[in-house]
Amino acid sequence: MAIRTILHHPDERLRTRAAEVTKFDENIESLIEDMLDTMYDAPGIGLAATQINIHLRVIVVDCSREEKTPMHFINPVLLEEVGIEEMKEGCLSVPGVFEEVSRAEKIKIKAQNAGGTVFELEADGLLAVCIQHEIEHLDGKLFVDKLSTLKQKRIRKKLEKIKL
Ligand code: NI
Repeated sequence: MAIRTILHHPDERLRTRAAEVTKFDENIESLIEDMLDTMYDAPGIGLAATQINIHLRVIVVDCSREEKTPMHFINPVLLEEVGIEEMKEGCLSVPGVFEEVSRAEKIKIKAQNAGGTVFELEADGLLAVCIQHEIEHLDGKLFVDKLSTLKQKRIRKKLEKIKL
C-alpha cells in the first residue's frame, strides 16, 4: 500500500503514450493497489497509471455512490461508442477545474484483469464517462484538450500559478 504523487497539468509526462501490459505478475497487482489507494486518498473516482508517472495501460475506477466498488482495467480498448452525453468533468491532474465535456453515452470495452483474463464490459452514465476519460490519459490526452483554446490557456495559466 502506498499513495503515489499525482502529476499535474501542464506536466509533459502526462502526454506520454502508455505501453501495453504484457506481464501479469505481482508488480501489476501492487501497481493497482497503489493506484486505488492514491485515487481514494485524493479523493477521486478514476485514475490512470500515466497520472502517477507509470506509463503502462492500467486504469482504476470507482463510480459507486455508497459502498466501495473498486474496478481495474488493463489494456482497455473501446469496442463500441453510442450516443452523445454532456457531463461536467474534473481530473486529479487538473485540480480545481470542472468543465462540460461531451462523450459517448454508452460504451462497450474490452480489457484484461490483473490475472490477464480478457473480459468485456458495457457501461453507461458516469461509469462510461469515467472509463473514456481514463483511457484517454493512457494516450497522453486530458479532458481540457476538448475545451476552447481560450479556456485551455486560462486553465494552464491558473495551474502554473499554483505551482509557484
Ligand atoms: Ni483525469
